[in-house]
Amino acid sequence: MTIAIIGTGAIGSALAADLAAGGTDLLIAGHTPEKSQALAATLDGHGTAVTVQEAVAQADVLIFAVWYDTIRELIAEYGDALSGKIIVDPSNPIAPDPNGGFVKTIPAEDSAGQLLAALLPAGATLVKAFGSLAAGTLASASRQTPEEAVLFYAADDQAAGDTVAGLIRAAGFEPVPVGGVDQSIRIEVFGDLHEFGAIGGAVTKDAALTAVAGAA
Ligand SMILES: NC(=O)c1ccc[n+]([C@@H]2O[C@H](COP(=O)([O-])OP(=O)(O)OC[C@H]3O[C@@H](n4cnc5c(N)ncnc54)[C@H](OP(=O)(O)O)[C@@H]3O)[C@@H](O)[C@H]2O)c1
Repeated sequence: MTIAIIGTGAIGSALAADLAAGGTDLLIAGHTPEKSQALAATLDGHGTAVTVQEAVAQADVLIFAVWYDTIRELIAEYGDALSGKIIVDPSNPIAPDPNGGFVKTIPAEDSAGQLLAALLPAGATLVKAFGSLAAGTLASASRQTPEEAVLFYAADDQAAGDTVAGLIRAAGFEPVPVGGVDQSIRIEVFGDLHEFGAIGGAVTKDAALTAVAGAA
């Protein structure tokens, strides 16, 4: 199975390092070739820099480590070429507000996961994952001992969810499902299972399962 990370910023680079450290080979695609090459070069032979077009053509799993609006643009641009792919969405739809905080850029009751899933072509399936921790935590909490920290994920398709759970393990975290893509809102920013929500940070499996069940 071929895995691509699109985006070489905070989340893309932290996740690439976590996955490569677990032995996962990755295609690294950004819209600045020098940044893709620089990130790939840090991955101990597990990274190959490609264009976004090459990543879409070659990968079975596309991790869109770019902002929500960019994911929308890329789905529109690549359309049917995404059919048959697992699209992994870590996005938190937020923008800075004038008071130094953040504001949600989509309606409060919506999730980026659900809105993006609705834009995918037939045959593509979205899994919400890798966005429930801040980039710094994603980097620092990988392969934590004695118990690995949790990364939540939401999937409608069982096989796609299992594939992403395997990637979460390879990245050095404990995968915990929260249900279908309609539960994405719980793991996106301001959601109760997001690091900046009620759960309040990287947690281990027992606390995560209690929290998932708590509001179910
Ligand atoms: N940062 C966090 O703590 C955090 C936590 C959870 C979830 N997230 C989510 O993760 C996603 C990425 O966040 P981030 O913090 O990693 O953002 P970032 O550091 O600003 O990186 C964004 C990346 O997107 C790339 N990009 C922009 N337009 C593109 C295009 N058309 N094609 C390919 N690549 C493109 C940028 O490339 P260039 O640099 O070449 O322009 C950059 O590598 C966002 O949806 C965010 O909500 C972030």
